[in-house]
Amino acid sequence: MARILITSALPYINGIKHLGNLAGSMLPADVWARFKRAQGHEVLYICATDEHGTPAELAAAAAGQDVRTYCDEQHEIQKAAGQAFGLSYDWFGRSSNPQNHRLTQHFAEALEKNGLIEERVDRMIYSIDDARFLPDRYVEGTCPHCGHVGARGDQCDNCGRLLDPTDLIDPYSSVSGSRNLEVRDTRHLYLLQTKIEPQIRAWVDGKTGWQTLAKSIAYKHLDEGLIDRGITRDLAWGVPVTKDGFPRPGMEDKVFYVWFDAPIEYIAATEEWAEATGRTWRDWWRLDEGAEDVRYVQFMGKDNVAFHTVSFPATIIGSGEPWKTVDQLKAFNWLNWYGGKFSTSQKRGVFMDQALELLPADYWRWRLTAYGPEHADSAFTWEDFQASTNKDLADVLGNFVNRIVKFAESKFDGVVPEGGEAGPVEIKLEADIRAAVAEATEQFEAMEFRKAAVAVRAAWVLGNEYLQVAAPWTALKTDRDRAAVGVRTGLNLVALFARLAAPILPFSAEKIAASVGSTDLSWPAADEDLLNRLPVGGKVEAQGVLFAKIEDAQVAEWSERFGGAE
Ligand code: 2FM
Ligand code: ZN
Repeated sequence: MARILITSALPYINGIKHLGNLAGSMLPADVWARFKRAQGHEVLYICATDEHGTPAELAAAAAGQDVRTYCDEQHEIQKAAGQAFGLSYDWFGRSSNPQNHRLTQHFAEALEKNGLIEERVDRMIYSIDDARFLPDRYVEGTCPHCGHVGARGDQCDNCGRLLDPTDLIDPYSSVSGSRNLEVRDTRHLYLLQTKIEPQIRAWVDGKTGWQTLAKSIAYKHLDEGLIDRGITRDLAWGVPVTKDGFPRPGMEDKVFYVWFDAPIEYIAATEEWAEATGRTWRDWWRLDEGAEDVRYVQFMGKDNVAFHTVSFPATIIGSGEPWKTVDQLKAFNWLNWYGGKFSTSQKRGVFMDQALELLPADYWRWRLTAYGPEHADSAFTWEDFQASTNKDLADVLGNFVNRIVKFAESKFDGVVPEGGEAGPVEIKLEADIRAAVAEATEQFEAMEFRKAAVAVRAAWVLGNEYLQVAAPWTALKTDRDRAAVGVRTGLNLVALFARLAAPILPFSAEKIAASVGSTDLSWPAADEDLLNRLPVGGKVEAQGVLFAKIEDAQVAEWSERFGGAE
């Protein structure tokens, strides 16, 4: 049994997340956490809301609330949405909690002791009309590298370069649109990344378990040359820079930059979990206190990779303390809404709460995992969603379960029947199923979610093909024992399919297992007798419609309501 720590990128607090956010970090992290738990490993899956920074301040202002109240409410909303989607966090924390304040200040102090923090006078963009300094991402303009119009001051979404807002050509405030900006002096703390660049590079070199996309993004940033990063901001909401016993004259009104404190919340949220559950957290995070045997896996969208492979490591490595760092990093591309982007600010796309008003979580979980933006961007369209739901879930899985369970109910007294012996058809089935299970295991193991889903689906297809050939309904007319073998094998397949489906379709998996009197959702082991596990005489009982087909009328209605192709 291994100890596995899983984190998914922390969703910003400013409003409920859309399906793109879900598909690119939280959902795959959950699927993998479930897979690993089902194998019997000790998994700790941590997530939290990312509550600081200007997005929170602005969203609170727009909602007419003070930022604390706004965050309290939004945290509960996101937590409930996650639960409703079956996201099996062991803890869903908050970056605004005291644990994160303490730890963030601790890291700053450790970095300072190591000579990696410097106070510098900055020339920052001040918006006269907004009467405030503008944080990087609230200055927009034209990217000096690729000419992209509408690049944000922290990063260009088009060419991916990290930017400084003063680099932007023709800048404007995204708060008000005002171009009435000027550059003013303000003092800030800088993390001297240039000084520890060689250590970060050596650390990246040593990371053999990272996926190619993650490594290439890390090297791209290292090769461009790291710059010293300002890690404080002129804002009221956040982790204060000064603390008791660690005064910084002139910095009383400043807070740490949200991207400095957010990843620290991975650790702090573990501390929240430990305090709430009476467990210990340091043995998950400190190499000198038991974390050497922890395997740490991070899930995130590709826009977050630079922060996790360079900036956060700079904090950790620079502290000189023996913290656990990421072993495997799984990054995702974008889920698009038809041809364009999902957008929280423009409310384009489907959001987690709305999705669940339309259909149960598993329908979305299947679509977003089996056809997710894994190795390339992928598009969400109602038409594709309808097609894959109806084919994969209703026709292939649902139909199989329904057919055999109903038949056992009507012709075999609702029990797993006895009698007969496996013949050549069952022997071949067993070999084919074993191969499909091995493939699914290998792909899940490798965090290849689309391929894992293909293998799981292939097993379901084998079940349908088996029923065609074994045709217990025909056999029953002449040979009850033969029919019993078909039904018993089919019911065992139902139990197996529930187990294979469970990481992706946790709600349906429970129902499917229950239909054959099982609660076992463990992942099948390589040497298991896959098709003879249900006790003969065990109860069989249909659990109602598993997956309803999506009708054309629904597609039309949803396209109308959410906008589609345009
Ligand atoms: O991009 C985002 O949505 C950020 N809120 C992710 C933060 S991940 C972590 F470092 F906190
Ligand atoms: Zn650019």
